[in-house]
Amino acid sequence: MKVIITGGTGYIGSHTAMEMLGANYEVVLIDNFSNSYPWVAERIATLSGKQVLMEEVDLTDADALDVCLARHNDAAAIIHFAALKAVGESVEMPLRYYRNNLIGLLNLLSSMIRHSIPDLVFSSSCTVYGAAENMPIDETAPLLAPLSPYGATKRMAEEMITDLASANRIRAVLLRYFNPVGAHHSAQLGELPIGVPNNLMPFITQTAIGKRKKLMVFGNDYPTPDGTPIRDYIHVTDLAIAHLKALQRMLNGKQKKSSEVFNLGTGKGYSVLEMIHAFEKHNGVKVPYEITDRRPGDIAEIWADTSLANKELRWHAQYGLKEMVTTAWQWEQHLQTEENLNPEEVSK
Ligand code: WQD
Repeated sequence: MKVIITGGTGYIGSHTAMEMLGANYEVVLIDNFSNSYPWVAERIATLSGKQVLMEEVDLTDADALDVCLARHNDAAAIIHFAALKAVGESVEMPLRYYRNNLIGLLNLLSSMIRHSIPDLVFSSSCTVYGAAENMPIDETAPLLAPLSPYGATKRMAEEMITDLASANRIRAVLLRYFNPVGAHHSAQLGELPIGVPNNLMPFITQTAIGKRKKLMVFGNDYPTPDGTPIRDYIHVTDLAIAHLKALQRMLNGKQKKSSEVFNLGTGKGYSVLEMIHAFEKHNGVKVPYEITDRRPGDIAEIWADTSLANKELRWHAQYGLKEMVTTAWQWEQHLQTEENLNPEEVSK
């Protein structure tokens, strides 16, 4: 059975491709390589021992996308990761985010209907909850004002998909990720931030290996036990497995309605300082850091109520903090041995 993965050479897309191939699905990766590299497709094929079909397509090019989906109209489903996801960048360049994330999705939805590809798994985010206050947060929580244009695109995307599913034109599962971290156990796949990382974990690993002088901790005056913000970090492999479970739920006709939403987290929150200390403890390396001002738009705490995914997807996060920080470190160390793959050197 064939599955199309948009954004398939990206961080979560590549790890999901590994799980789909491991479950004997035929995988077609679609990517425009705006935030990833073609060699990731070869790496997935090598690690899985399976053939991987690669299509270089930009989802905002409706004609090229339609030709691609016509070629793969035997696909049972699409897992849609392809989107821009840097919160700060979205504040500076909102139109780029609306165009890429929403026009891209609009083209994908139109084309999948035209070519009768029935099922969609969508990469959403806990950011759609906005500045929520009652933790742990479940899927029935009201969606408050978006915290960034990036968050607004995720929320609008959910509405577009839900409306189309309500019209019985597609079936959909919307997966709201909390904070993806870590890397493939082989240390051959992982997060590949281009330029200065936005997210915490790659900044920690690049500081630990000496690529960055020190980590800036964005504020320690939050109403949390140690003053630093709390997040629900989840291992990328746990996230990838949840996509497989969500897809199988649809393909096996187990959905209770045409579109369903699930939180994907561990249900446990850790603060920034707890992440730094866990990283240092489990890897035996120091992470020099300095407390600086808060980052605009950050909220004090958010962590998931995962009981719906646990029950309906029969899925639980298996990896704990130790695997999150050790696999992230092993990947950063591996990257140093493949300097030709190091994003700093790779010319875009
Ligand atoms: C985590 C914590 C920072 C960097 C965002 C998106 C979410 C998802 C993940 C895409 C915060 C602190 C960070 C640093 C720091 N996006 N931090 N120094 O903001 O929770 O979530 O990224 O998949 O949709 O909203 O993640 O990793 O940026 O920050 O102190 O150099 O680490 O203040 O408290 P965030 P993050």
